[in-house]
Amino acid sequence: MQREYRELLDSTIGHLQLLKSAGARHVAVSQETIAALSAPVLPTATRLRPIEPPISSPVKVVETATIPAAMRTPKATNDSKSTALAALRERVLPCIQCAHLASSRTQVVFGVGDPAAQLMFVGEAPGADEDEKGEPFIGKAGQLLTKIILAMGLSRENVYIANILKCRPDTPGQSAGNRKPTAAEMATCKPYLLEQIQIIQPRALVALGATAIDGLLGKTEGISKLRGHWQEFAGIPLMPTYHPAYLLRNQALSEKRKVWEDMLLVMGKLEMPISEKQHNFFLRA
Ligand code: URA
Repeated sequence: MQREYRELLDSTIGHLQLLKSAGARHVAVSQETIAALSAPVLPTATRLRPIEPPISSPVKVVETATIPAAMRTPKATNDSKSTALAALRERVLPCIQCAHLASSRTQVVFGVGDPAAQLMFVGEAPGADEDEKGEPFIGKAGQLLTKIILAMGLSRENVYIANILKCRPDTPGQSAGNRKPTAAEMATCKPYLLEQIQIIQPRALVALGATAIDGLLGKTEGISKLRGHWQEFAGIPLMPTYHPAYLLRNQALSEKRKVWEDMLLVMGKLEMPISEKQHNFFLRA
């Protein structure tokens, strides 16, 4: 049996078990998914597109023209994960479990990227920009995250980006501003993230900032202690690093380098090629 086909079956079985344990007794399955599951002959993956250079990136983008082979997934795997993720999205979009957030949000911000991504970034919660557009990490901090992803030789389209909390935390009495999600809000929303992770089955997770780490692992000893050290979530290696918003507040090269070193560890874990230039980003000349 081909490795890709086995992975496809494993991911489908894992997802169905998760749905069953959450009380689901029926799943909608398309003809395409059934065909993909019953046909072990898979086409060679060709879906990943060349990387586009970032707009005014603070780092130089690697010249790699294509995504590393280790980061590709077969089309049939991608299709079944896409279907599962779309079904989950339909369940999450109308969520009203946190009534206060459901009434203050513009929309639920589900997640974005490749349903079969090998690498998944997890932030804390949508801000005003994300709430307006329905996509995570598109404000200033998000633009910096995009540059980091590009510097790794990847793009937003071939990783997956989501938050622990899928609604913008409300700020009663204030017309603007952000607040941290509460422990109760994160606990309520976390099962959705877990399902996203179970469907996508990334080979590595990156948790962005202390709140994400607290929400995912219940660890509060401080992001500066945890960053750079592999953790595990849902059986998947997880690298904690600083939130890009922190890098916007603290422009020191040393802090950028710390985040970059964390990304080098992630690239190593994913067996991605690392160029000399990439090794040296944010090192003083
Ligand atoms: N900060 C986050 O943690 N998530 C977003 O989507 C945007 C900003």
